[in-house]
Amino acid sequence: AKTRHYTFNIRYQNVTKLRHTVRVLTVNHQLPGPPLVAREGDRVLIKVINHVAENVTIHWHGVRQLQTGWADGPAYVTQCPIQTGQSYTYNFTLNGQRGTLLWHAHISWLRATIHGPIIILPRRNESYPFENPHKEVAIILGEWFNVNPESVIQQALQTGGGPNVSDAYTINGHPGPLYNSSSKDTFKLKVKAGNTYLLRLINAALNDELFFSIANHSLTVVDVDASYIKPFQTDVVLLSPGQTSNVLLKTNPNFPINSTFLMAARPYFTGQGTFDNSTTVGILHYGPGHSPLPTPITTLIPNLPAINDTNFVTNFSRKLRSLATAKFPVNVPQTVDKQFFFTVGLGTAPCPKNATCQGPNGTKFAASVNNISFALPSTAILEAYFSRRANGVYRTDFPVKPVFPFNYTGTPPNNTLVSNSTSLVVLPFNASVEVVLQGTSILGAESHPLHLHGFNFYIVGEGFGNFDPNKDPANFNLVDPVERNTAGVPAGGWIAFRFFADNPGVWFMHCHLDVHTSWGLRMAWIVLDGPKPNQKLPPPPADLPKC
Ligand code: C2O
Repeated sequence: AKTRHYTFNIRYQNVTKLRHTVRVLTVNHQLPGPPLVAREGDRVLIKVINHVAENVTIHWHGVRQLQTGWADGPAYVTQCPIQTGQSYTYNFTLNGQRGTLLWHAHISWLRATIHGPIIILPRRNESYPFENPHKEVAIILGEWFNVNPESVIQQALQTGGGPNVSDAYTINGHPGPLYNSSSKDTFKLKVKAGNTYLLRLINAALNDELFFSIANHSLTVVDVDASYIKPFQTDVVLLSPGQTSNVLLKTNPNFPINSTFLMAARPYFTGQGTFDNSTTVGILHYGPGHSPLPTPITTLIPNLPAINDTNFVTNFSRKLRSLATAKFPVNVPQTVDKQFFFTVGLGTAPCPKNATCQGPNGTKFAASVNNISFALPSTAILEAYFSRRANGVYRTDFPVKPVFPFNYTGTPPNNTLVSNSTSLVVLPFNASVEVVLQGTSILGAESHPLHLHGFNFYIVGEGFGNFDPNKDPANFNLVDPVERNTAGVPAGGWIAFRFFADNPGVWFMHCHLDVHTSWGLRMAWIVLDGPKPNQKLPPPPADLPKC
């Protein structure tokens, strides 16, 4: 195994898209940012230098961070932000994982423009458990705002309405020809007939689950969230924000040189309110040579499911099964020590004075887990925990069951107000944990992609309506459930997942739709040290930023 060094310089950059020039934050002047490339087992050190006025942190989304909780990155959870003129070196090992993940800023909405791929190749002497591709390509789906995304979140927080939606989706930073004056800004992938390509798909959008497809080509999904699955063919892939997937693309040996096809992404959305329902397209071109835009462009867009096609989404997620071989076994708890039932969804909060709020009855929108909107403290929880100074920073009384139970997929309760608290759940080291996440449809049934830091979990069950503790567990899959770090709680339904709490530290869990995170759909776990030295959280690194 190797040690790999990276330097990330955070700077402003003027970026022009859709005829709007916006001063955005970037890493090393790149949008999307530079890829981290390493092999399984490598140690990676990334020195992040903040040259801007804003505070910054970076999260390595999906990296297990075993014993390296100080490198996880969520602001005020595992670290204080890196302030102007300061730097912090994230230092961790990529153990037991191979595939594609993403890194992104983890403070406010800075991840809109501060994000990039993490590519974990198999160990040098190991191969993929599927056909070796001729070439690998990262495909990052993102969003573009014609204004500074930070002004959008300010509005979403103040009025609890909106937020203003993005102005375009992008493929590797390019909106593509369906947007006004954007046809030159199009992603192109040049391929050869009869070859196999590994596409490393990443959804880095802030607030949108996205369908992805390539016209006249089917895709073979071979992994999700850097875990191998039983391969299956599909025309369309769904990615929630924060999710990643490796898919094989076989080019047709019979397509002639200069054949051109469109790839496209557009949202899956079941909630209420406005959203960006535009489509980004890129070009798949059988090279060599120059690739003109095909005309007329609209007839060549691949068939994507309808915007609210929950049937497609359900069928797609049911196809995801862990590879579950001797070499890549599943490690799903067969029995459970700690059981949690959490409601996740939207609620309301009082409208601030002098504001016009957009929630029901003049309230502003809020979001919660078990009716609690998690409040971020002004110092890092992990530091307070490590130095045993919880007082005034956090509490450990997070409810294991909803505070006000009601029929979650029936008539909404009269009171939808959430309460605020920095309350955590404490787990003994190596506890086997089961979490049922019940979507509430108080304010429009919407799917919530929940992300857990520091762990992968196994999705043992999912369904629609209210979870039934007497019936549903009988159908749990404890044989080959898919292993993920981010999973969509279906609109008007639930998921159940299990994991072993084998990683000491403080771990964030939240909806990966950034507007819901900001509104409070977030919580955190403390996992206690185990008895052995390699089961304890080591002390913080010397350069850990101060608040
Ligand atoms: Cu990818 Cu806490 O986030």
